[in-house]
Amino acid sequence: MSDAYARLMDRVRDIGRFRAIEALLEWDQETYMPPGGVKARAEQIALIAGVAHERMVADETKALLEEAAAHDEDYVAVTNLRETRRTFDRASKVPTELVKEIAHTSAMAKEAWVKARKDSDFPTFAPLLGKMVDLKKQLADHVGYETEPYDALMDEFEPGARAADIDELFATLRDQTVALLRKIQAASDKPDAAILTRHYPQAQQEVLSRQMATALNFDFDSGRGDVTVHPFCTTIGGCDDVRITTRYLEDFLPAAMFGTMHETGHGLYEQGLPVEHRFTPMGDCISLGIHESQSRMWENMVGRSRGFWEHHYAGVQVMFPDALGDVSLDAFYRAINTVAPSFIRVEADELTYNLHIALRFEIERGIFTGKLKIEDIPAAWSEAFDRFLGVTPDNDAEGCLQDIHWSMGIFGYFPTYALGNLYAAQFFGQAEKDIPDLANRIRANDHKPLLAWLREHIHQHGMRYRAGELVEKVTGKPLSIEPFMGYVTAKFSEVYGL
Ligand code: CO
Repeated sequence: MSDAYARLMDRVRDIGRFRAIEALLEWDQETYMPPGGVKARAEQIALIAGVAHERMVADETKALLEEAAAHDEDYVAVTNLRETRRTFDRASKVPTELVKEIAHTSAMAKEAWVKARKDSDFPTFAPLLGKMVDLKKQLADHVGYETEPYDALMDEFEPGARAADIDELFATLRDQTVALLRKIQAASDKPDAAILTRHYPQAQQEVLSRQMATALNFDFDSGRGDVTVHPFCTTIGGCDDVRITTRYLEDFLPAAMFGTMHETGHGLYEQGLPVEHRFTPMGDCISLGIHESQSRMWENMVGRSRGFWEHHYAGVQVMFPDALGDVSLDAFYRAINTVAPSFIRVEADELTYNLHIALRFEIERGIFTGKLKIEDIPAAWSEAFDRFLGVTPDNDAEGCLQDIHWSMGIFGYFPTYALGNLYAAQFFGQAEKDIPDLANRIRANDHKPLLAWLREHIHQHGMRYRAGELVEKVTGKPLSIEPFMGYVTAKFSEVYGL
């Protein structure tokens, strides 16, 4: 190991520590901070983020990167240098003035978005959205891309992803999903999802959430769970301090129950990253798509499986005797696996969720190729919604104004949600082959074999592989929609008696 590499890694670890401090400030803001603290907190976060940014783009970083690249060739160094170079390039190619203007526009646009959504009034949001799109186009030009600006934006969240590949993947996914959805809609025997909207007292739900996270082997000695408005998972001390959050709705059981399993899945990935590489790329997650694959696998493939509930249902019935006393295991299992078109992405079921993402991808890509004008977004949204889901939202609040992402300038992020579903199914299919009695282990509430498999094949590698490489290495095949379509077809054929 060269001296330059050692010094560079000290610098990278310090930047990681600053980022962790920033994450702690943000976590506190979302959980315990009193509302009055907002202004002071924004200043603190900006200060820390600024210091971290300056360290990254400093001449010293560049010099060390160049010197180390000539000497260090083992895979740990190669990974750390490749990723540090990538972060350095992105951070130093974009003028500070543009970064500041995006941050400022984001603050203004977020406020405008909140109001526009409340009034369901897209035209009042459109000018700021247009400005944000222009700024992000400039950013993409600075970062650089081979074929289209959208690639440069997506690359921030899913390194190496290309819009043309995603387009091909999503096109077949959309067609096959719509075909299966039509069959499900035509089925005569439908689950009764209304049982999930009965009264579920928060106190019992809190006990249940803790039970679920514990059952999935979330380590509460190296993590904790708290309450928030918009659930998330964050890490403060690498794998040793992972925070998950939940929100409780007394008239909708799945929000906290599956929300907790989802964030636990994210948390298990963070807790499984190699401690010896803490605060360097080798100790970091690969991409948002891979992160989402971990949350979706535990939430859906494990948490919404019949075997899981064969073990847990009796206990949950005892916790909520008024709501579930008269509901059979079979009725409960079918209720949590109800498929139906809906307008709001975050409430969508396992099957139609990807359609919500394919729609956003089509629209975002249209905006950045210039084919779709800002003022035409609501009409394009309705047209695509009808084409994909067979229904159209009544207003913009239930349509193109529902998500916060665009107001913050986050474009190219949505595809990672659907990629997560596809990765999850492909990984889970392989885990089923590698762990012959996996179904029985899940039925016995023993989730250690699956976790050990994920640790070995995914978590321990940090950022060593790109997402596409990892999928091929673990499953022997490139990412495809087949495992996901096979999984949903088998599951929902059984649930709906197709
Ligand atoms: Co997630």
